[in-house]
Amino acid sequence: MRIAVISDIHGNATALRQVLKDIESCKADQVICLGDNIGYGPEPEAVVSMLRQMNIASVMGNHELVINNPGFLGWFNTAARLSLEKSIDAISPPNLDFLSRLPDFITAFGCRFVHGFPPDSPTNYMFEIYPAEMEKIMADMAEPVCFIGHTHDLALITYQDRSVNQSPLTGSKTVFLDSTLKYIINAGSVGQPRDGTGEAKYVLFDTEAYSLEVRRIPYDVNDTIKKIHAAGLPRQHALRLSWP
Ligand SMILES: [Fe+2]
Repeated sequence: MRIAVISDIHGNATALRQVLKDIESCKADQVICLGDNIGYGPEPEAVVSMLRQMNIASVMGNHELVINNPGFLGWFNTAARLSLEKSIDAISPPNLDFLSRLPDFITAFGCRFVHGFPPDSPTNYMFEIYPAEMEKIMADMAEPVCFIGHTHDLALITYQDRSVNQSPLTGSKTVFLDSTLKYIINAGSVGQPRDGTGEAKYVLFDTEAYSLEVRRIPYDVNDTIKKIHAAGLPRQHALRLSWP
């Protein structure tokens, strides 16, 4: 089985359309989304509608947490808060209801899927976890593979012999995993990658070959930038699409 893991779409429907086309051309069997479907980007309603129409399961991101708990807006910086408020205003009641019911994590196909960090946090950042804590979390993980989003970066964390090793997922080659080890895979971002390459990113996981492939998908970044400006969203959300 081939699982496409997408994350952090952030209202970028132009990027999501290209990614979904690529997923179709790769003949993935399943698509799972790691949350943060809204915020920053100009088309949150279109993004959520696409996810629902395609029956794509998603976990709860920190941006979606605001729907059930408006007080959580205080967690964000001014620009993110402004775009999140505009996003929520632009989303239809059925789509808001869908977002409000997202689970904190999904377990499927022998893997765990969570936005921030296992076992179930939509808010904890990978880089905030102390090494000793990370070792304990990975030792306790029931599943050998956990996919996370939230940082908008790509990384592979390997747990072996009670120690943790982290490496970037920068190469273009398929990475073969070891079925005797445990992994956390940071799956990058579809809608707001923070590596300045201007390409949407997602990860394809083959459960039989036990391999990972990072897909880098060019899309019309200028189209999204124009829509961000037209929607009156903060400029930095547009700049970040092409700058680190
Ligand atoms: Fe995000």
